[in-house]
Order: sequence, then C-alpha cells, then structure tokens
Amino acid sequence: MDELPINRIILGDCREVMRSLPKKCIDLLLTDPPYNISNDAEIVRNGGKFGVAKSISMNFGEWDRNVIMPNDWVPRAIETLTENGVFISFYDKRHISHLCDLLEENGCFIRHIGTWHKLNPAPQARKVKWQIAGEMFVIATKNKGTGHHYNYKEGQHHDVITTPICQGNERYDHPTQKPEALINPLIKWWSFEGDVVFDPFCGTGTIPAVAKKLGRRFIGVENDERYFSIAKARVDVIQAMRLTSFLKEAPLDEANLVQARLR
Ligand SMILES: C[S@@+](CC[C@H](N)C(=O)[O-])C[C@H]1O[C@@H](n2cnc3c(N)ncnc32)[C@H](O)[C@@H]1O
Repeated sequence: MDELPINRIILGDCREVMRSLPKKCIDLLLTDPPYNISNDAEIVRNGGKFGVAKSISMNFGEWDRNVIMPNDWVPRAIETLTENGVFISFYDKRHISHLCDLLEENGCFIRHIGTWHKLNPAPQARKVKWQIAGEMFVIATKNKGTGHHYNYKEGQHHDVITTPICQGNERYDHPTQKPEALINPLIKWWSFEGDVVFDPFCGTGTIPAVAKKLGRRFIGVENDERYFSIAKARVDVIQAMRLTSFLKEAPLDEANLVQARLR
C-alpha cells in the first residue's frame, strides 16, 4: 500500500488490510474485536416463582464464533504501531488475561486493565440475580517508559468508564455496538489531535466516528457489508456536518442523516 487509507472505512478482512499497511504507521489502535462468546443458548424464562422475564439470545452472529482469535491479528497489529503508539482493545473478561499475555509476549507494556460499567445492563432472570454490568478493556504501549501518546492536560481519569449501553437515535442495527460516550475518553486521553486511529473491527463505525469528531484521522475495517455501509454513512455524515457547520447552516440531526443514506 503506497499511501495510507486515511479517513476511510475499508470493506474487507482486517488481516489482509493490516498486512498491506506499513510498519509503524498507527498512533492509536483502538478496537472492539469479536469476543468469541456466542452460542446457541436462548434463555427463555416463562413463569415460575418470580414471574415472566424476557428471553435473551447469546448469538451475536457467525463472526463471533471463533472465526478470528487474538493470535490471528494482535502480533501484526502491534507491528503497525509507532514506537510511541498505544494499543487499546475491549475483550471478554474471562479471556482478557490471554490477550494481555499475548501483548507482553509481543513486547508491549500493560498500562491499565479498565472496565466499562454499563448503567443499564440486560436484566437477569426474573430480576433477582446479579446483572453483568462490566466489560473490560486493556491499554498497552510499545514504550515501557514515557513518550507514548497520552494527554496529561486532560488530567486524571478513573480506569472505569460509566455510561449507558448504546440506545435511542445513536443505536444502529448491530448487536454489540459501543456507545460514543465510552469511546470518547479513550481517544481523548490516549491520542493527540491529528493522530491516526485504527479500528480493524469497526462494526458500525463508532470508533472512526468519535475519532473524526475529536479531530483525529482514522482508518476503519469491517468485513460485513451491512455494518460497513452503516460505518461509511456515519463518517460521511460527520464529514458533511463539519462542512455545514463551517458554512453556518442550520444544525443537522446526525442519526436521521445516517438513516437517510442507508435507505
Ligand atoms: C464487536 S463488533 C464491533 C462493534 C463496533 N465497536 C461498533 O460500535 O459498532 C466486531 C466486528 O468485527 C467484524 N469482523 C469480524 N471479523 C472480521 C475481520 N476478519 N475483518 C474485519 N472485520 C471483522 C464483525 O463483523 C463485527 O461487526
């Protein structure tokens, strides 16, 4: 690849895209890969001592069934990072230690293992059990000392980010879409304006969308055509809205504009 595909969402397999990227070209790799936790269980609860509860599916899609594991992409992803680059990935909490081991085996230094605290997690059986309200992410750098991209001027931040799950207008048709409010502090603290933010599993494009809003450059990859179309529409609308606000026209509704492009 001669030129970096800056500010583009690419339809394809991220392993191929990563192979085509030069080494040391990415400032922040921030991603939300398949956790590989899908199964056929459908928890249907009807009646019983505590009454009726909704059924909950644990099938997010074929893409979440061990099709791609961390070993398939993490080593090459680290090679694409600059020496002061930062690697952040969400992962299933039962297996995030495997991801951390892999990062260390490939020369990275673990800075934080953080938690997304969901304010409105899925209800549990008959609303009497503990709810699963936490998801985890790891923040690692190639650099073991100082010099990696980090915005000291933003001040301190907990390694817990508390937000509702993605809902309302912001929600597109994806079972594991992350909310923008969760992604915002990760980009704001762990990259600088103008940095290249790479998301190899971009789904509906939440990470590229927030990167764009925060004045970073982005590269996103998604191999499902439907999710790719949503991601592309999102970043195109943000780009168009920036131009419109520059021209001082009436404020626009981002979600409606995205839906209009998908029709
Ligand atoms: C957990 S979801 C990401 C959701 C995203 N954070 C959002 O807010 O919409 C992971 C995505 O990776 C995609 N995917 C799985 N394997 C892939 C591959 N080899 N290359 C590119 N995308 C892949 C899936 O289609 C899925 O949309």
